Amino acid sequence: MILEICTLSKTYPRGRAPFFAVRDVSLSLDAGDFVCIAGPSGSGKSTLLGIAAGLISPTHGRVCFQGQDYGRLSDDALSALRNQGMGYIMQGPSLLPNFTVLQNVLLPYYVLPRGRRTGAAPVARASLLLEQVGMLPLASQYPAELSGGELRRVAIARALLLAPGLVIADEPTGDLDEGHTEEIMRLFSGIAREGAALLVVTHDASPFRYGNRSYYLEAGVLTASSSPP
Ligand SMILES: Nc1ncnc2c1ncn2[C@@H]1O[C@H](COP(=O)(O)OP(=O)(O)OP(=O)(O)O)[C@@H](O)[C@H]1O
Ligand SMILES: [Mg+2]
Repeated sequence: MILEICTLSKTYPRGRAPFFAVRDVSLSLDAGDFVCIAGPSGSGKSTLLGIAAGLISPTHGRVCFQGQDYGRLSDDALSALRNQGMGYIMQGPSLLPNFTVLQNVLLPYYVLPRGRRTGAAPVARASLLLEQVGMLPLASQYPAELSGGELRRVAIARALLLAPGLVIADEPTGDLDEGHTEEIMRLFSGIAREGAALLVVTHDASPFRYGNRSYYLEAGVLTASSSPP
């Protein structure tokens, strides 16, 4: 089991009663699983992914990544687990503006503890990933010079640099055209075939064409789905 989410809820104060952004969600991902979650805006998708990545703490329930319960880890241990074992592609902009595209993709390597940074920076792997997302020609550009979809594709390459066991992606194709969406989803399928687990959120229905399991999230409640609702 790579990721295990058990009876997870997240409430925020809103008016008199607590507001459930995520309500009693359980979900498990094994190696090779490519799980897609769709749902309307505000249904709790980013909240669920943030909790799965250990960035948001749940109100109730438990998340374990590779057998390690987030609730039992110190902040430092949780950060190390996230940086070394997971690739997280967030919904909003996430590239560092003063770094080039290539330097941004290499970031996960530079934040590794010194003992794990053996040899030279993995420029060849970063370049290969940039090529796979169609961004190698712009490797020396800065984020301000890129379009929204180009920024997204660089963020995807960066999340894959250290070949993480779990990739969590929040609307990774939201600003991509159909051709680039296909390319990214094929890349994700290949990564799942190699044994990683993928948890991918979208608010459009297209990723139901991809992955081996699909779910629908509405008002924080997760239901299994074999086709777009
Ligand atoms: N920090 C917060 N404090 C209070 N309410 C929040 C907070 N974060 C999210 N919410 C609320 O929780 C609900 C779910 O938000 P979330 O961002 O998870 O939705 P989403 O499904 O990702 O939406 P979108 O498709 O627009 O990205 C929303 O109603 C939002 O207003
Ligand atoms: Mg969201």
